[in-house]
Amino acid sequence: MQLSPFMRSLGLKYPLFQGGMAWVADGKLAAAVSNAGGLGIIGGGNAPGEVVYNEIKTAISLTDRPFGVNVMLLSPHVDEVVEAILQQKDNIAVVTTGAGNPSRYLKRLQEANIKVIPVVGSVGLAKIMERSGVDAVIAEGMESGGHIGKLTTMTLVPQVVDAIKIPVIAAGGIGDGRGLAAAFMLGAQGVQMGTRFLVARESKISPIYKQAVLKAKDIDTLVTGDFAGHPSRVLKNPMARKYLQIEKAEAAKDHPDFNSLDELGNGSLRRAVETGDPNTGAYMAGEISGMIKKEQTAKEIVEEVCQTASDLLGGVQ
Ligand SMILES: Cc1cc2nc3c(=O)[nH]c(=O)nc-3n(C[C@H](O)[C@H](O)[C@H](O)COP(=O)(O)O)c2cc1C
Repeated sequence: MQLSPFMRSLGLKYPLFQGGMAWVADGKLAAAVSNAGGLGIIGGGNAPGEVVYNEIKTAISLTDRPFGVNVMLLSPHVDEVVEAILQQKDNIAVVTTGAGNPSRYLKRLQEANIKVIPVVGSVGLAKIMERSGVDAVIAEGMESGGHIGKLTTMTLVPQVVDAIKIPVIAAGGIGDGRGLAAAFMLGAQGVQMGTRFLVARESKISPIYKQAVLKAKDIDTLVTGDFAGHPSRVLKNPMARKYLQIEKAEAAKDHPDFNSLDELGNGSLRRAVETGDPNTGAYMAGEISGMIKKEQTAKEIVEEVCQTASDLLGGVQ
């Protein structure tokens, strides 16, 4: 598969990122994806710097290939996480960022030879990011699992590609080689997949959560947090239904109090990952879940997706 100069500069064999999923994407999963020739990304989430530092160490012990770290800019530990990354800078190729503008950390990360790639959900944000000097953006559509924006991947990616000059990576609803091929057609230089890697053999999520993804149908996700302004795509389960019910009831009031939902929502992804409890755990996953039917190793996933895309693109690329 032919890679763009940017993807080649990252030292990748395949233009495929594994999304840095909070509580899910540890050093082991990231290393497995990187060993397969994609870009494994450790999810920093809300974890303290020391935890992220140790996951980076784990990845270093398992792979010689480039990998990345996702920094959640709203995390209370964001400064420590960036320090943990800088302390091990020689081994980290990429920092992706979610929930905000990474410009505060941009200079130090880039001076350390780390490419900074924020996730964006709109053309406006993509332009702001380009102006601030980031190396590329991940344009993520609302089909994706976890926190989402408003636009679909199909509409967002080409509009971002047209609006900026830096490389664009497509994310959201991409689960196989057809999705990767389609992303190239939309002008992206690669893709980021999250949901498909949830069920990788190396993914540490509870078997109950994993089975829920494998059994899901196309219409089995819903969006919580929309009324409160932080929408998140999860699989339907008792926890998600309860959350939505309370949220709708609050939204109907003259003075809604969404703070009451915090208790229910806080730590809910972690609970899903660690215990799989459907009554308290948020099974974050994307609309592509309905297409994912088996657990495979990260290597099998990366190779299958890229081989299919390469076959489909034969003569086009
Ligand atoms: C369980 C889960 C947790 C996620 N956590 C994060 C995160 O902490 N930071 C982030 O930037 N993106 C996060 N994402 C988004 C992924 O990195 C990726 O962009 C997205 O899953 C792509 O869409 P897909 O799920 O359709 O493959 C998460 C996604 C999932 C499914």
